[in-house]
Amino acid sequence: MSDKDTSSVSEAEIAVYWQEENLLPPSAAFVAQANLTDRAIFERFGLDNFPDCFKEYADLLDWDQTWHTTLDSSDAPCFKWFVGGRINASHNCVDRHLALNRNKVALLFVPEPEGEAHQAITYQELWVRVNETAALLQDFAHLKAGDRVTIHLPMTPELPVTMLACARLGVIHSVVFAGFSGKACGERAADSGSRVLITMDSYYRGGALLDHKEKADEAVHAAAAEKQAIDTVLVWQRKTGGYHSATPMQAGRDHFMNEVLPRYRGKRVAPVPMPAEAPLFLMYTSGTTGRPKGCQHGTGGYLAYAAGTSKLVQDIHPNDVYWCMADIGWITGHTYIVYGPLALGATSVLFEGVPTFPDAGRAWRIAEQLGVNIFHTAPTTIRMLRKLGPDEPAKYNYHFKHMTTVGEPIEPTVWKWYHEVVGKGAAVIVDTWWQTETGGVLCSTMPGIHSMKAGSAGPAAPGIHASVLDEDGQNMPAGSGKAGNIIIRNPWPGLFQTIWGDRERYVKTYFAKYNKNPKSKDWRDWPYFPGDAAVLAADGYYRILGRVDDVINVAGHRLGTKELESACLIVNEVAEAAVVPVNDEIKGKLPEIYIALKPGVKASKTIEQAVVKAIEVEIGKIARPRHVWIVPDMPKTRSGKIMRRVLAAISNGSPVGDITTLANPEVVEQVRIMVQGK
Ligand code: WT7
Repeated sequence: MSDKDTSSVSEAEIAVYWQEENLLPPSAAFVAQANLTDRAIFERFGLDNFPDCFKEYADLLDWDQTWHTTLDSSDAPCFKWFVGGRINASHNCVDRHLALNRNKVALLFVPEPEGEAHQAITYQELWVRVNETAALLQDFAHLKAGDRVTIHLPMTPELPVTMLACARLGVIHSVVFAGFSGKACGERAADSGSRVLITMDSYYRGGALLDHKEKADEAVHAAAAEKQAIDTVLVWQRKTGGYHSATPMQAGRDHFMNEVLPRYRGKRVAPVPMPAEAPLFLMYTSGTTGRPKGCQHGTGGYLAYAAGTSKLVQDIHPNDVYWCMADIGWITGHTYIVYGPLALGATSVLFEGVPTFPDAGRAWRIAEQLGVNIFHTAPTTIRMLRKLGPDEPAKYNYHFKHMTTVGEPIEPTVWKWYHEVVGKGAAVIVDTWWQTETGGVLCSTMPGIHSMKAGSAGPAAPGIHASVLDEDGQNMPAGSGKAGNIIIRNPWPGLFQTIWGDRERYVKTYFAKYNKNPKSKDWRDWPYFPGDAAVLAADGYYRILGRVDDVINVAGHRLGTKELESACLIVNEVAEAAVVPVNDEIKGKLPEIYIALKPGVKASKTIEQAVVKAIEVEIGKIARPRHVWIVPDMPKTRSGKIMRRVLAAISNGSPVGDITTLANPEVVEQVRIMVQGK
């Protein structure tokens, strides 16, 4: 079926619409070189060997002190891994590679302007930059282990350098995606209790040098409004020697990194051996209700899982040129641009810009020029590149052995273009299903073992024991053809430790659904509920259908319905707001907004624009809605609940279903005509 057809069906229907695709084995050439070809790994990582099997991942790392307890469940479901162990993530990603590979490129930075030279940063150079930055953070910004720092940086080397400098000191970093607004950044800074914000004056995106420092000023205000003082703003400069922002530097608060850093030239800071379970970072993500959640990831467990899955799922070898075209401001970038690849001593490409600027051949030129052989991106990007430049890949002489898709379901037609045109029929593809919360991949084919199947993520990864359950917790057997809730029966080292400052919400959101004994200290009683629907095929492959909650997955990034709705309510004229996901050919989903106005207020373009603006300010441009509909009234149940399901059906042109029980069924037809025409 055509793309148009798939983009007009709901997630749950995908299961029905997408046909089972044929299995496609990896090429002999890929298998011959793969890190993992032995199926015995699934026995080694079987539940009989749980949790000790994960030693195999932990052994990929350097430990300052070996752990005495692999898994501590005494505070279940806040699990602790490798307890008693001490480890430093910065040492593992930098220092330990110096002896053999100091001259090897760690980060290959590709600026967006094609005229600007690439930067190849060796492990030695990375080590120097991380040390000097750590010295500055320690002595100038007065940061120490356990403190939180908010980092609002674009895709330039300063971002991984700053993260690794924090990790060196045991400082917990909280990276906020640069595309988020100043307000969103400030709220996250407040939630994490950061008194230091690290930013950049500007960066390139889509051909323009964007003013980024202006967001720092907004962030400081937003944090102050929540009683969190940010006393220090450290400002990297995108262009050496220049300051490209309209906002003034505030004396005493704002400091140019490039002015302060020379004081720390030559300074070295010993990596702090952190307890394995000490938090390494926070990563905020959207949920069903309330504020974004600060997902807290630990040091030893997270890094072990990042390294293990980078090696087995990404198949990274020492000589590969690996390019994950995600943003480090999301979990994919944390795990599969920075921590995983660098822990393995690999070369990781860092691209500042968008892959369609100045044209749809940019990504393939980069691949050709750098000799990239592992490529990692999201369905939304694949769809866009396919639309804008379906024949571009063939014009460039690159060769991928391995490609990843991550973040949302990928339509079989798009998957096939990725395979045949981008991968030139030669590259193996892994469709990796996971989340911010899970630290690393949960379901994927193991590229040297399993055949690929378009539209399906694949079996659970080694040591991950998944099932599909119905609402009552009954197992839905493989091949039943029915969708249910996918769960993971056991904890694993990459699982986040808690929601920062909100253990109760952690337990409630991810574990309460299928837990029968809230007092249990046995991990078997705490299946992890990720909030996705899935079907399990007879061959053991999971097909992920999407969220079962009010989370909208836009271009592979999560937006909470409630967050968007609260932003709309900031506009004074708005009485009620409902946000629904609408299917989009490129982005997967886009939010569409319905608002009802306060009595006596007349609908106008100005109000629509004010709503869009409010969303940009509160959250950022990524959350921009497809459309704002001002409706006479919201379809409601008799108890007054807005029927988002009905609005979503109208937006997507699908049947509204039974509306006879609504308090105001006549509104549905009015709204439908408004949105769809007659
Ligand atoms: C949600 C997590 C994984 C890092 C990037 C997104 C959806 C993720 C897949 C996939 C189908 C997927 C799920 C998940 N998702 N990967 N391969 N196939 N759906 O991280 O922002 O935390 O979003 O993205 O719905 O729950 P995230």
